[in-house]
Amino acid sequence: MSEIRKIMIPDLLAMKKEGKKISMITAYSFPQAQCVDEAGIDIILVGDSLGMVELGYKDTVPVTMDEMLNHTRAVMRGVKRSHVVGDMPFMSYNISREQAVTNAGILYKDGGCDSVKLEGGQEMAPVVKAIVTAGIPVFGHIGLTPQTANMLGGFKVQGKSLDAARKVVDDALSLEEAGAFAIVLEAIPRQLAAIITEKLSVPTIGIGGGLECDGQVLVLHDLVGLFRRFTPKFVKVYADIYSVQLQAVKSYISDVQEKKFPAEEHTFTMKEEAVAELRKALHM
Ligand code: KIV
Repeated sequence: MSEIRKIMIPDLLAMKKEGKKISMITAYSFPQAQCVDEAGIDIILVGDSLGMVELGYKDTVPVTMDEMLNHTRAVMRGVKRSHVVGDMPFMSYNISREQAVTNAGILYKDGGCDSVKLEGGQEMAPVVKAIVTAGIPVFGHIGLTPQTANMLGGFKVQGKSLDAARKVVDDALSLEEAGAFAIVLEAIPRQLAAIITEKLSVPTIGIGGGLECDGQVLVLHDLVGLFRRFTPKFVKVYADIYSVQLQAVKSYISDVQEKKFPAEEHTFTMKEEAVAELRKALHM
């Protein structure tokens, strides 16, 4: 059997150069990580979206470092090939560069991920630079930044006017200059994403950024139909796992109620003589 080779950052940069599209998806647990890694995904993001799709929070704001750390560790135990990005939760990097480097270090060292991601453009460039200088690879995230969506007037498409588009371009260039090795472009017009993709030498990964990005990312639960609160326009739903799971549990409940489970093949038995002896010993 040939050895599985881990995807490294130079592989991702080479994919951009060669025009090979990069696939990225979120995962939050050991079995999810095993599955998406086996499927051949290039990058796994342990996204802070776990707050919404796994922990039931309203948005990503309440997610803590401890939660990210636990889920990142679980994902790392399931991965052989994919590059794994650990997401930095809100307020784990927004106070000071020192705080950002400390928390990036915790996620990278104790979580064991291959890089960290944080949200924000020009204003975050010094933070990105500090983390990269400390020796930790950083993935940027601009356009719609869910952690600070209230500052953007809600979950809205970004970069639609000339000024807004120029700002997103400047954000991308600042992050690249600060040392980010890739950048998520969330919810921006495809033409703007195409221009940014052309201008940057690091890969752009779109989520609502159109086909011209160097790669695409989706939240696993959106793609397999496990998150039912809402489905953003940029999501393609490939399966309805919620319904499959619901049906399986309903069948189990009726099997239990109708004494159809456990059947013979799910049951351990003793020899008849041993049962008789046991009953005798217990005066039954
Ligand atoms: O947390 C997350 O899942 C993300 C993606 C939406 C890129 O940041």
